[in-house]
Amino acid sequence: MTHLLEVAGVTRRFGGITAVDQVSFTVGEGSARAVIGPNGAGKTTLLDLITGFTAPDEGTVLLDGEDITGVAPHRLPQRGLMRTFQSARLVPLLTVRENVMLGAHRFTRSRFLSDGLRLPRARREERALRARTAELLDFLGLTPFADRPAADLPAGAQRLVEVARGLSGGPRILLLDEPAAGLDDTETAELADALSAVHAGGIALVLIEHNIDLVMKVSDRVLVLDAGGVLADGPPEEVRRDPAVIEAYLGAAT
Ligand SMILES: Nc1ncnc2c1ncn2[C@@H]1O[C@H](COP(=O)(O)OP(=O)(O)O)[C@@H](O)[C@H]1O
Ligand SMILES: [Mg+2]
Repeated sequence: MTHLLEVAGVTRRFGGITAVDQVSFTVGEGSARAVIGPNGAGKTTLLDLITGFTAPDEGTVLLDGEDITGVAPHRLPQRGLMRTFQSARLVPLLTVRENVMLGAHRFTRSRFLSDGLRLPRARREERALRARTAELLDFLGLTPFADRPAADLPAGAQRLVEVARGLSGGPRILLLDEPAAGLDDTETAELADALSAVHAGGIALVLIEHNIDLVMKVSDRVLVLDAGGVLADGPPEEVRRDPAVIEAYLGAAT
């Protein structure tokens, strides 16, 4: 069986540190995979390796059976892979709607000359993009904020805008780096509902997250990293009871 995403033995060193050490895991079509671990465990580096922001020293990344190791980040959305960042990267002065549209912009075929001349195809694509964006904003409960500058929104809503932008190109898999960071309980619950709905819609997720409730609610399999290596890989309930995982977490929390 071909997995949608298959990470095989990836390693990334920075000087003397091995940030990611021989990590392997898979993500099935439409499944939700959480990646947890203490600060410095290598989670963000792992996401960077999958999404082409860093090249691995060893190992491979396959998307739908095709080798995407080291493929430039901007080439991945057209293959159905999108990501969000640990610190939101919205354009503060653009509206929520414009920020979301930016996520899909690279998918529209009309460019440059035809854009400038407003040729029929460019106009058609723009209309379709606007309609899709409105649907996404609605889906994530962002319609009331649609025409406000992104910077005016509360932290939780900004996170949802990031998710909307990640979804705007119609990905098959969305990778999120700590989307609940800085959110209060209500905002986190809203985010959890949104991610569950995305998952229910058949989009695969890779969710890096500290908030264990969010992980339990959204994911069907959990990868635990510690000091760059894989500490555990299993269903959420099993991983939660794993003494080695509890120890790594308690050690990090104190
Ligand atoms: N660009 C870099 N240069 C040097 N060290 C780095 C770099 N990126 C990450 N690291 C180191 O790699 C380890 C893993 O970091 P990171 O992937 O950010 O962890 P996490 O996201 O789990 O908190 C840390 O020790 C961090 O200091
Ligand atoms: Mg990180």
